[in-house]
Amino acid sequence: MYKLKEIAPQVYYVGVNDRQKALFENMWPLPAGVSYNSYLIVDEKSVLVDTVDICYSDIFLKKIADALNGRLLDYLIVDHMEPDHAGSIRLLRQQYPNVQIIGNNKTFGMLQGYHGITDGLHEVKEGDKLNIGKHTLSFYMSPMVHWPEVMMTYDETDKILFSADAFGTYGTLDGGVIDTEMSVDHYWEEMIRYYANIVGKYGNPVQKTLQKLAGLEIQTICSTHGPVWREQKNKAIDIYDRLSRYEGENGVSIIYGSMYGHTEQMAEAIASSLSENGIKKIVMHHVSKSHSSNILKDVFKYKGVIIGSPTYSNQLFPDLEAVLSKIELREVKNRLFAYFGSFSWAGAAVKKLDAFGERMKWETVGTPVEQKQGMSVDNYEACLLLGQAMAERINQN
Ligand SMILES: Cc1cc2nc3c(=O)[nH]c(=O)nc-3n(C[C@H](O)[C@H](O)[C@H](O)COP(=O)(O)O)c2cc1C
Ligand SMILES: [Fe+2]
Ligand SMILES: [Fe+2]
Repeated sequence: MYKLKEIAPQVYYVGVNDRQKALFENMWPLPAGVSYNSYLIVDEKSVLVDTVDICYSDIFLKKIADALNGRLLDYLIVDHMEPDHAGSIRLLRQQYPNVQIIGNNKTFGMLQGYHGITDGLHEVKEGDKLNIGKHTLSFYMSPMVHWPEVMMTYDETDKILFSADAFGTYGTLDGGVIDTEMSVDHYWEEMIRYYANIVGKYGNPVQKTLQKLAGLEIQTICSTHGPVWREQKNKAIDIYDRLSRYEGENGVSIIYGSMYGHTEQMAEAIASSLSENGIKKIVMHHVSKSHSSNILKDVFKYKGVIIGSPTYSNQLFPDLEAVLSKIELREVKNRLFAYFGSFSWAGAAVKKLDAFGERMKWETVGTPVEQKQGMSVDNYEACLLLGQAMAERINQN
């Protein structure tokens, strides 16, 4: 019944769209949904690459049955064990009891722990090959992009890289599957957000994997989320490369908390000074309004990060502190940092921000501004100077 998209001869897209889930990992908003991609190669042997979230297993299994057209499934390759991809493995095994499951030794520990599966396993190591007829597949370990067991599968025949989460993005596939057959403009920003939220901490492992992939001739990238990259594959690789090197664009995120607007006035002064001094990309994130998912995206995207907070019970403003802990967890490197804060009787916020910058090993730019109660002329001038110092430092870049 299903007319499945053929990525290459005998290679079918059998993934699904999730337009229902509000938060990926119960944390990250999905305004345009997300896809869980899976691919089926119907050669002399039939091979499925990854499964989908268990919520979509019904339609997923129907698509596979249609593509197999009465044949049995010979192999399932498990490139990643996170439940958004591994969730349907047990049901798939029930449907195809003889399917051999291909993974590495780390995969199999998780397969037992999550699904109680211990038999019918085919272990592969770095560089191992599997011939399935016209296609020969080879396997490349890619630990910590995004979990320790992650590996990638390369189809030597059609030069397709099945890349697990790497080169993935939020956003459903709205009809088209391959980038050549649709407009993909709206995915790029979402790719940065996806990277910052999900892969962000693993810059070094991503770099190691990119170096490994540099030796392969890749014509098509089949990631587990978002479009199949063919025409735009170099752009997708370039985005992952720049993000994993923590290379920021010349722009500034101003991230601040404010209860009654006094700290916000400082943020406004700094922003106008950045603009006066030639910075065109300025993003303001009021932490009580902006979701941390978007804040992280801009921290990864831009070179400059300016953070402000009122003092709150001798601490940082709690919602700001929560955002800082998410930035710190991702060990974002090489940012230009400036900070400011406010208090009424005994300031603590600015000291805490100073310590944050030290822990991040970021370069501090300009003189921090600490404001007691309302905005004074001196504070205002100091905020302008802070913005100017950041703009000048960025323009040197
Ligand atoms: C719940 C609460 C806790 C506060 N705790 C402190 C504090 O521990 N030390 C201090 O000097 N000021 C404290 N303040 C005062 C604020 O830091 C000060 O009013 C600041 O200007 C608020 O900035 P805003 O207008 O941007 O919210 C507190 C204010 C509130 C509402
Ligand atoms: Fe993942
Ligand atoms: Fe995923």
